[in-house]
Amino acid sequence: MVELGVRIGTLELKNPVMPASGCFAHEYADAMDLARLGAVVTKSVTPKRRIGNPVPRVAETEAGMLNSIGIPSNGLLYYVDSILPHYAGVAVPLVASVSADTAEEFAAACEALSVPGVAAIEANISCPNIEADGRAFAMDAKHTHRAIAAIKQHARVPIWAKLTPNVADIAEIARAAEEAGADALVVANTLLGMAIDPETRKPRLGNVMGGLSGPAIRPVVVRMVFQCARAVRIPVIGCGGIVTAEDAVEHLLAGAVAVQVGTASFLDPAAMIRVIEGLVAYCERHGIVRIADLVGGVRIDSELTDRWLRLSQQSG
Ligand SMILES: Cc1cc2nc3c(=O)[nH]c(=O)nc-3n(C[C@H](O)[C@H](O)[C@H](O)COP(=O)(O)O)c2cc1C
Repeated sequence: MVELGVRIGTLELKNPVMPASGCFAHEYADAMDLARLGAVVTKSVTPKRRIGNPVPRVAETEAGMLNSIGIPSNGLLYYVDSILPHYAGVAVPLVASVSADTAEEFAAACEALSVPGVAAIEANISCPNIEADGRAFAMDAKHTHRAIAAIKQHARVPIWAKLTPNVADIAEIARAAEEAGADALVVANTLLGMAIDPETRKPRLGNVMGGLSGPAIRPVVVRMVFQCARAVRIPVIGCGGIVTAEDAVEHLLAGAVAVQVGTASFLDPAAMIRVIEGLVAYCERHGIVRIADLVGGVRIDSELTDRWLRLSQQSG
């Protein structure tokens, strides 16, 4: 028997696997039993109705995909009235993902979403901050702190801060989020990328640049999970490039207490169930009784870890 349960602050999850925001919808209930997941995370909702970016919005790459969906949203009222009820009968914690244009908008949206049925809010601070020329909140420690502190003043449920990997020093951002009161970190959103069609000479995305996701980004994100888990005391949730149970184990060994699966679900809607079953098989194979014992279990001697953490502040 393997004990798969994990804790993220006050939340207890029956296993560490959940969807990544935007890569999951309630319709997945037709393809799987949602109650088998550790938690459910919904697509980011914005306070007001918003259309997405110009098409094409997705492009395939060798080991992943580029997207510039741009968070189309029907707004908060629609979300509360028409999306949340779909999850009312699902017996796993529901995590509502929120994006907003300013720290104050974030705070108001998180207050409005602190309703029964919402177990935690994932603040997608990887989205543009209109008060900083559209640079993502989480590209800057000061803006990260400001947004999370504002949210924490108004929200009545735990707040997970979802970071962007498009930064030089993710540990600095992680510490800013923790200091501002974040209850957990999600590491991370998509990596900024671009693809050009050599025949037409045009960008493959209507928005020119977009977010890279899938297996291609896993080594980058595992490195960031490792750095964040050593920089903060709050739980880190790993998100990036997970397709198999072994990929999830990599995130756990780097220091994640739980994982999110995104792009893999587009290829196989049952990917998360495969990961959960594969984690049990992995633990049995390695004589691991509690999955939580894997967290941060990468085998590196401490002198080397310190050296790598110092070096990782430099390039090359
Ligand atoms: C099509 C698509 C839509 C996404 N929408 C959101 C979103 O609404 N909010 C968010 O925080 N992240 C969004 N993401 C990012 C994912 O949640 C995740 O951070 C990223 O894809 C890395 O995980 P993966 O490699 O497992 O896909 C989206 C990703 C994709 C591919």
